[in-house]
Amino acid sequence: MSTPLSIGLIGQKFMGRAHSNAWNQAPHFFDLPRVPRLELVSARNLRELKPFAERWGWARFSAEWRDIAEDETIELVDIGTPNDLHAEQAIAMLEAGKHVACEKPLAGTLEDARAMRAAAKKCKGQKTFVWFNYRRCPAVALAQQLVADGKIGEVQHVRASYLQDWAGPDVPLLWRFQKKHAGSGAHGDLNAHIVDMARFITGDEIKEINGAIAKTFVKERKRLDGKGKGRSTVDDAVLFLTTFKGGAIGSFEASRVAQGHQNRNTIELNGTKGSLKFDFEDMNLLWYYDGGDDPKTRGWQRIMCTAGEHHPYAGNWWPDAHVLGYEHGFVNMAADICKVLGGEQPVAALPDFEDAYQTQRVLEAALLAAKERCAIPMSQVK
Ligand SMILES: NC(=O)c1ccc[n+]([C@@H]2O[C@H](COP(=O)([O-])OP(=O)(O)OC[C@H]3O[C@@H](n4cnc5c(N)ncnc54)[C@H](O)[C@@H]3O)[C@@H](O)[C@H]2O)c1
Repeated sequence: MSTPLSIGLIGQKFMGRAHSNAWNQAPHFFDLPRVPRLELVSARNLRELKPFAERWGWARFSAEWRDIAEDETIELVDIGTPNDLHAEQAIAMLEAGKHVACEKPLAGTLEDARAMRAAAKKCKGQKTFVWFNYRRCPAVALAQQLVADGKIGEVQHVRASYLQDWAGPDVPLLWRFQKKHAGSGAHGDLNAHIVDMARFITGDEIKEINGAIAKTFVKERKRLDGKGKGRSTVDDAVLFLTTFKGGAIGSFEASRVAQGHQNRNTIELNGTKGSLKFDFEDMNLLWYYDGGDDPKTRGWQRIMCTAGEHHPYAGNWWPDAHVLGYEHGFVNMAADICKVLGGEQPVAALPDFEDAYQTQRVLEAALLAAKERCAIPMSQVK
């Protein structure tokens, strides 16, 4: 017997659409103990809110996000706003007794992330979630299972890169290029995802940042108010090297100016017995190399991760090789949140504020390593 789960959403643009779609679709594809009810949506632009609410099935809308905190019927608040707003909004919702599902990165700054983690620890039984959606691509969730099953032995290398090319000089000074709103650029936007994926797949933690470089290529951008140009105060690309507690070494690379790569989120793991690799632009595939195979036929195996009960989430979707896309990671996550709030297990582990705080520490340490031009042990970043 399922019961409704009343949801409030803050933000109605890119992530607002992705999340609204996810809450709507989840009960169509999964048997859920709690069924999302899209109750109240809030964002800044009142004129856009009414058509948005009608299109996506939100019962009510408001230009004041605090209305959600005051609404006693709402149990879960979903936050899809710029990074500098996450802390204020999430903490207010936790204090109002709501569960919170916040977009990544957890916050723009480590200080904000720390406050969010403290608020989550203090609250009375509410749950927190962070939308690291790539964990819920079947191929990524399968990679985690294969590593846990020992299929590639001990992990020795983690090689992750997340490359995009949309942020050339013609793109105006959006909030994403302003440190006070975003915290950082490609780093918090993209490295956040691959650090989360690396921690998730390996089950290991980063012990040290061994070196890093951060670069802003486009220093000025057209202001949105038409008053000339303003300074971009975030990185366009950040690269860093790491050592994991378990002994693996890692490289992470994020760029929003890597021409020819639109959303190339990749991770490769090389272990003592084999390797795995994933590329989001071919997201239904996981590549597996078994070093123990007969040398005559040994090679990379192309696994189409759509095989019913054999692959995470696949049994809830379409017949084999009727492939999934970007939105399915969000739908899978919405379903897992509904399961957890109904007392069931998620298919893949859900990151909470504590977990996302650990990713945020790694991001902070990497920026510090770039600034100081030296190695930074994680023990230095609390
Ligand atoms: N998981 C992912 O893959 C992914 C992808 C894109 C963005 N994100 C994250 O999602 C968040 C939002 O990004 P986006 O691309 O949707 O941004 P966006 O600019 O498209 O939308 C931001 C929304 O926030 C609203 N907003 C801004 N200030 C507000 C305020 N004071 N009160 C209420 N609403 C306010 C705006 O009205 C807008 O609806 C960011 O944290 C970003 O890092 C995650």
